[in-house]
This record gives sequence, structure tokens and C-alpha cells, in this order.
Amino acid sequence: MNKFVACGVMMAGLLLGSAPEAAAEPVAVTGDKVGVVYFSWSPTGNTRFAAETIAKKVGTTAYEIKAAKPYSTNYKACCDEAKPECANRKLRPIRQVAGLNLARYDVVFVGTPNWWGTMAPPVRTFLVQNAAVLKGKTVCLFQTNGGGGMQNCGKDFAQVLPNSKVLPAQAFKGATIRSQVSALEQFVTERITVK
Ligand SMILES: Cc1cc2nc3c(=O)[nH]c(=O)nc-3n(C[C@H](O)[C@H](O)[C@H](O)COP(=O)(O)O)c2cc1C
Repeated sequence: MNKFVACGVMMAGLLLGSAPEAAAEPVAVTGDKVGVVYFSWSPTGNTRFAAETIAKKVGTTAYEIKAAKPYSTNYKACCDEAKPECANRKLRPIRQVAGLNLARYDVVFVGTPNWWGTMAPPVRTFLVQNAAVLKGKTVCLFQTNGGGGMQNCGKDFAQVLPNSKVLPAQAFKGATIRSQVSALEQFVTERITVK
């Protein structure tokens, strides 16, 4: 039994997951106007890898969101700690993201691991705290998951950014993320055209 199943997370999300639709027309933007921010917890850094691959494709920097009080490094303990936070859509305090000037971007890609079917709480906090800055900007979620697919991540993302232009979100299977470079690059080119 793998760790994810041992953690007790239901795979029902496979049924609930929504298939991402491609954006009708990629948004034309210059590379320096595209931001990438992400949260990643596991030692393999699946979402970090996805974020860095996306940033490399664009020619920009990926900035990491960190919880003010880090989650346990133990998988089961982290799952237990995150479960009520995710269920209640709680805001986990975060550190200031070093070096990030969100206001300078027109398009912002946001990466999260799927935690209990939704965005990891530090990502939710980041978005809520920056909703005013992201107002009118184009935003796009990408997530990595343990097999549950998108579940509520894309829906919850759009919900916390009602005044942003939300592009279709994309889910990537975390375990194989390092062999999905082409898919990650395709995700970028389907959403934006770097001028
Ligand atoms: C607290 C916690 C909850 C998780 N819940 C889910 C889930 O509901 N559905 C799913 O498919 N994967 C779930 N996973 C697995 C992660 O989404 C997956 O391993 C992801 O790729 C990890 O990304 P990271 O390496 O950037 O942390 C969970 C993992 C953790 C630690």
C-alpha cells in the first residue's frame, strides 16, 4: 500500500476531477511580465519541479510560497495536520515571498500540490492576501497530485480570485512529473504566447 493510500486520502476525486479545457486563444505577453509562484512540500518537490520547468519555458523566475510554521516532514503527520485546514478552507499563515514583486506581472502561474482535494492552505493564503494585486491580471493554476487529478483545486482557485481572468487549470500526476516536461511546456504554450 503506498503512502498516499495509507494516508487515507480518497481516490474519489478521479471521478470528480474536471478535465481541463485548453484556452481558446493563448494570451500574448512578454516573458518578463509572467510570474510563477508555487508551494511544494514533499522531499521530491513535484510542484517545485513543475514550477521551475514552467518558469524555464517562459524565461522567468519561480518563487516559492512557504508556510510560516512548516508542516511536519512526516507524511502521515502532515496529512493529519492539513486535513482540517483543507476541509475548512483555512488560511495557513505564510512567510513573505522573498524577492517577489507580484504587481509587475500581467500573467501569474500558481502551483500547488493537491491536498485533500483542494489547494494547499499556504497557496490559498497567498491568493487571498494578494487578490487585490491580482485583480484584472491573468492567472492560471497548475497542480500536482497523487492520483486524484484536479478535484476541487481549479474551482477553489477561481473562487478566491473573482476579479482576475482565470485561465483553465491543469493537473499533473506528481509521481511522474519529471517525465512530463513536454506536457508542462505544452501547458504553457496553450495558455500564453511569449512575445
Ligand atoms: C497533506 C497531503 C494531502 C494530499 N491529498 C491529496 C489528494 O487529496 N489527492 C491527491 O491526488 N493527492 C494528494 N496528495 C498527494 C500530493 O498531491 C502529491 O504527492 C503531490 O505531487 C506532491 O507535491 P509536492 O512534491 O510539490 O509536495 C496529498 C499529499 C499530502 C502531503
